[in-house]
Amino acid sequence: MGTFVTLGGETQESFLNIEPIDLTYTGLKKGCMAGEVAVVTGSASNVGLGYVRALAWAGAKVVIADLNEEAGAEAERVINLESGPDCALFVKTNVTLQEDIDNLAEKAFAKFGKVDLLLNNAMNMRLNGPILSSPVSDLEQSFAISGKGVMMAIKAFVPAMIERGHGVVTYSATQFHYMPPMVGGSMYTAGKASATSLIMSLANEVKGKGVYVFCLTPAGIGRPDFSKFPPLKPGEKRRMFGMPGFEGMIPPEAGGAGMVYSLLHAEQLHGSGILINDALIAMDFPFPKPESVNRMKGRRLTDMELTMTFCYMGKGFDE
Ligand SMILES: NC(=O)c1ccc[n+]([C@@H]2O[C@H](COP(=O)([O-])OP(=O)(O)OC[C@H]3O[C@@H](n4cnc5c(N)ncnc54)[C@H](O)[C@@H]3O)[C@@H](O)[C@H]2O)c1
Repeated sequence: MGTFVTLGGETQESFLNIEPIDLTYTGLKKGCMAGEVAVVTGSASNVGLGYVRALAWAGAKVVIADLNEEAGAEAERVINLESGPDCALFVKTNVTLQEDIDNLAEKAFAKFGKVDLLLNNAMNMRLNGPILSSPVSDLEQSFAISGKGVMMAIKAFVPAMIERGHGVVTYSATQFHYMPPMVGGSMYTAGKASATSLIMSLANEVKGKGVYVFCLTPAGIGRPDFSKFPPLKPGEKRRMFGMPGFEGMIPPEAGGAGMVYSLLHAEQLHGSGILINDALIAMDFPFPKPESVNRMKGRRLTDMELTMTFCYMGKGFDE
């Protein structure tokens, strides 16, 4: 159970896993996204929910497109109470279905008149099995969300952005173009790679048309319920995903701040990728809980560099 603060300053409860959002301390200006309308897929929970709440805090109108009806309706309620009436709209959407994407576009245009920002973020994280033991239907589903779904959304929203010479398209990518042994599954990365490829190609297709396209890679964003985890032994540090260095996770609200900062720099990021950690470092984010943030030293990586960094398998750690 999380809490949020309404526009009137009253603290209210929600079944969503959230904390109150006020990004003033990040250096972001309230109103820096005023006039923009964003469609964010997979935004009823976790990373995507952090995105829509941060965008609405920064003054944008947001369309929450998600399969989860209960959480989506609650996200709409919370955002309209914390950032202003009528600034959020939930549209139940399965991004793998053309009729749902058509309905999403119709409802978004009818409510807000235009769409400036398309954030492709939906994914089914359970589609993460290894090749040898996964049914082919898992790969089909992974491609349906991360390949076909992204292409259908692009086709629904980008032509109008080009007409107006104004827009941004992003994709919640992953650093892993294929799964290293320490992480495991392959159905997930195969789908993610197909969408990353589409997004980078789109950047090329829309060059010079006022529409900016880049990949935004969340890494270690979430708010796990540590009470459900085994207790730490004395001196032991939390390792998320079994990866050294991940001693905690970046809260989704902070991830949202990094995303807003990246959108504000969309022109510079066009045709490349950025890790949210790097966006937070670039904005000199005064982390409220520094110990919870994996402070990778870093900078903007090109897609090619990401591929080269993460795609050497070798014989594994014993070689
Ligand atoms: N959390 C991280 O640190 C991290 C790291 C790398 C990449 N990512 C990427 O960021 C995105 C969000 O990650 P998350 O951790 O918040 O995932 P999540 O599983 O917590 O949330 C995904 C959301 O997408 C929705 N969804 C699933 N299938 C859908 C469909 N067919 N149509 C519409 N909505 C659908 C779910 O209902 C859910 O609200 C994903 O694309 C993920 O691959 C996340």
